[in-house]
Amino acid sequence: MSADTAQRLRSGGDDQRPRHVAIIMDGNGRWATDRGWPRLVGHRRGAERVKQIVRACPELGVNWLTVYAFSTENWKRSTEEVLGLMKIFRRYIEREAEGLSAQGVRLRFIGGRERLDPKLQELMALIEGRTAGNSLLNLTVAINYGGRDELARAAARLAQKVARGEIADPGQDDLEACLDTAGHPDPDLVIRTSGETRTSNFLPWQAAYAEYEFTPTLWPDFTPQHLAEILDRFGLRERRFGGV
Ligand code: IPE
Ligand code: IPE
Ligand code: MG
Repeated sequence: MSADTAQRLRSGGDDQRPRHVAIIMDGNGRWATDRGWPRLVGHRRGAERVKQIVRACPELGVNWLTVYAFSTENWKRSTEEVLGLMKIFRRYIEREAEGLSAQGVRLRFIGGRERLDPKLQELMALIEGRTAGNSLLNLTVAINYGGRDELARAAARLAQKVARGEIADPGQDDLEACLDTAGHPDPDLVIRTSGETRTSNFLPWQAAYAEYEFTPTLWPDFTPQHLAEILDRFGLRERRFGGV
């Protein structure tokens, strides 16, 4: 990023800075295929990018970062690709645990866990516990996440609370408290890489009033500089939230 951008963002000169950025990290497969390489090579490069973007966030004034790593629909891919992705997640957690803790990152996961390998689930719970006291950056990784699945699971939890007599007349706040993202602020900005202009089941409830940025850059090519430029543009947007 330019020294100007970094300085301005650090100094808090913007009227509005996105506190919570969510990213649909798309285009790993095409990045690899364009080079004649297996798709998994693109996923590995993509994981490297995550590390770099995570390190850049605090300097850019981003306090919450949520990334879409694997959707409930991604199980449709070949066994080789799915298993390869699961291995990448596992390695990411194993290798990054110490570094993330030291960087002041609090790592959390959203999505249904029961379909994941028990060993991976165990690692996820461990690192969540280990980083629970951190607050410099709240990093949330969506694995086996789908907004519709999350809402269905939340509705079931809410129904249980009603059946137990804990809530009489459930409203929006009660449903929100049953989402995987309970307690997280809503994303201010959702970025999707790779040129696709769809949301693919990512945070449908939480991003109801988010601003969207679609960039043609493929995820393995997305640098902190790209992020800084998008954040600059965000500062120029007028958000009305239904007002005038
Ligand atoms: C995003 O990249 C990563 C996942 C969905 C797991 P893709 O794998 O979707 O890459 P493209 O869209 O096929 O290029
Ligand atoms: C969305 O990308 C999911 C992730 C980035 C993890 P996809 O590549 O799966 O989405 P579609 O199929 O293009 O909608
Ligand atoms: Mg894709």
